Amino acid sequence: MEATRLRLLSIAFSLILLLDATTAQMPGFVSLDCGGTGNFTDELGLEWTPDDRLIDGKITNISVANETRKQYQTLRYFPADDRKYCYTLEVISRTRYLVRATFLYGNFDNNNVYPKFDISLGATHWATIVISDANTIELQELIFLALDPTISVCLSNATTGQPFISTLELRQFNGSIYLTQYESQFYLSISARINFGADSEAPVRYPDDPFDRIWVSDSLRKANYLVDVAAGTEKVSTNMPIDVSSGERPPQKVMQTAVVGRNGSLTYRLNLDGFPGFGWAFTYFAEIEDVGNKSRKFRLVLPGMPDLSKPIVNIEENAQGKYRLYEPGYYNISLPFVLNFRFGRTSDSSLGPLLNAMEINKYLKKNDGSVDGSVISSVVSLYSSTDWALEGGDPCLPVPWSWVQCNSDPQPRITKIELSGKNLTGNIPTNLTMLSGLVELWLDGNSLTGPIPDFSGCVDLKIIHLENNQLTGELPSYMAELPNLREL
Ligand SMILES: *[C@@H]1O[C@H](CO)[C@@H](O)[C@H](O)[C@H]1NC(C)=O
Ligand SMILES: *[C@@H]1O[C@H](CO)[C@@H](O)[C@H](O)[C@H]1NC(C)=O
Ligand SMILES: *[C@@H]1O[C@H](CO)[C@@H](O)[C@H](O)[C@H]1NC(C)=O
Ligand SMILES: *[C@@H]1O[C@H](CO)[C@@H](O)[C@H](O)[C@H]1NC(C)=O
Ligand SMILES: *[C@@H]1O[C@H](CO)[C@@H](O)[C@H](O)[C@H]1NC(C)=O
Ligand SMILES: *[C@@H]1O[C@H](CO)[C@@H](O)[C@H](O)[C@H]1NC(C)=O
Ligand SMILES: *[C@@H]1O[C@H](CO)[C@@H](O)[C@H](O)[C@H]1NC(C)=O
Ligand SMILES: *[C@@H]1O[C@H](CO)[C@@H](O)[C@H](O)[C@H]1NC(C)=O
Ligand SMILES: *[C@@H]1O[C@H](CO)[C@@H](O)[C@H](O)[C@H]1NC(C)=O
Ligand SMILES: *[C@@H]1O[C@H](CO)[C@@H](O)[C@H](O)[C@H]1NC(C)=O
Repeated sequence: MEATRLRLLSIAFSLILLLDATTAQMPGFVSLDCGGTGNFTDELGLEWTPDDRLIDGKITNISVANETRKQYQTLRYFPADDRKYCYTLEVISRTRYLVRATFLYGNFDNNNVYPKFDISLGATHWATIVISDANTIELQELIFLALDPTISVCLSNATTGQPFISTLELRQFNGSIYLTQYESQFYLSISARINFGADSEAPVRYPDDPFDRIWVSDSLRKANYLVDVAAGTEKVSTNMPIDVSSGERPPQKVMQTAVVGRNGSLTYRLNLDGFPGFGWAFTYFAEIEDVGNKSRKFRLVLPGMPDLSKPIVNIEENAQGKYRLYEPGYYNISLPFVLNFRFGRTSDSSLGPLLNAMEINKYLKKNDGSVDGSVISSVVSLYSSTDWALEGGDPCLPVPWSWVQCNSDPQPRITKIELSGKNLTGNIPTNLTMLSGLVELWLDGNSLTGPIPDFSGCVDLKIIHLENNQLTGELPSYMAELPNLREL
């Protein structure tokens, strides 16, 4: 009797645990279904939310053959003007994230003109989105270290068609995954993340990868981006668990498959999006074959880079055991657009090389942004309920806010503020006087009250319009000399 009750209790308890485990989203996951209308959970267990409360723009439905995933059947699009359209997302400062944006055109505008526009992360030009097929998903991914409590992802600079977006995703990393010494000045733009020996063309991602990275199958012959140019390449796999609790923690499922060069070599040609340039390149190895006491030793051979061929890989020895991750790589290596690489057996090795996965990311230099970013943010935060104050991103880069003009310095300064007739109330924000590059200030036709703050530090200020407000007090004497001053 007692025992039965205990068992029932424990069954109930484990059911609760099970439900918890299946509904618990990883912390720091944000999955925006752009243009979507309601929350839903997809077949992977990712929880999608619509983007309607985050941004303006228009939404529409598309229909693309063979695309049944709900998040790709809607999109949000924006006017082809000289503005930028930004999502602002909350992040945890000092934490690394993956941000992923996808674009499925689907001829949403019935125009069959493939759009081309830019995407930026904060002040940094992230990529130019070039649609070249109505039914193919374009995808861009960056790894970044959050330094502020929010990030902005913006679309701008439509050169053809209208800018649009299908999904925007944030995935939070743990511990020191993707830590580099360059991370305060560079983002990592994902170029290749390949699962070798994959048992299908389907990518491996969440929940197999708790960070929802997308590991592309080596059997996917997408535009010949990866070509096996050697004979004797064979797939191997195991069901044994793999210890992946170090380095970048590649998913176990990726490490359970590999390719082996039965004839002594693995040779590939790989197209690296975004390259030539400097990048982060790592290989993921785990011994998953029954090798007995045979040796497996090999070297990486890159044409024109003899120095890189010196280290010898002996997976079992390097990983200190079978079924354990060994992750050698380069934090900063110069790579071409077409990478030819070979792993070759050493003369004293009886087995050919084995490769489970590899990942190559390009360093993308961060733009420091406008000098006035934090000052103008403090001003804008006073008007957080107004549309004009919510444009997001950097005030000047890659294109300025609609009511701002900037100079063309590498780190631009705000030169003009045009807030005429915006229904501003309260005092003129004192922090406006900290915009040292200000030339024109238009605040006329509002309901501003109180005294005029001291603009004498804005030495370039030439035009100031304050008329049609309820300001009080005298015009400061230095202001009376401004040629284009309009009185209170
Ligand atoms: C949708 O999901 C978000 C985030 O999980 C939540 O804040 C919101 O309340 C949900 N909306 C509805 C209608 O359930
Ligand atoms: C998109 O499709 C949904 C469901 O079929 C429908 O409710 C919605 O009105 C459509 N939206 C637009 C903009 O056509
Ligand atoms: C849709 O799927 C079918 C069967 O898998 C395939 O033959 C066809 O090429 C696919 N069409 C598109 C547009 O991908
Ligand atoms: C806009 O895009 C064009 C073509 O891609 C490029 O030449 C130009 O520099 C871009 N402008 C800005 C402001 O980024
Ligand atoms: C993240 O780190 C915490 C603490 O180190 C750990 O408990 C958790 O399992 C990690 N999550 C993943 C997905 O590795
Ligand atoms: C491996 O190399 C041997 C000798 O060079 C050759 O005869 C054989 O065909 C090769 N095997 C494959 C699968 O290419
Ligand atoms: C990588 O190395 C090159 C050449 O030594 C150097 O110019 C560059 O700043 C380094 N770092 C990055 C992130 O590119
Ligand atoms: C290991 O090597 C020894 C001698 O080289 C050989 O006798 C033995 O059969 C090998 N064992 C296995 C499991 O291959
Ligand atoms: C003015 O800006 C600074 C940062 O530049 C900020 O610390 C301060 O709180 C701001 N003052 C007001 C009144 O917003
Ligand atoms: C100006 O602000 C007041 C008070 O918030 C509001 O009632 C009024 O509708 C606003 N007028 C315009 C033109 O935005």
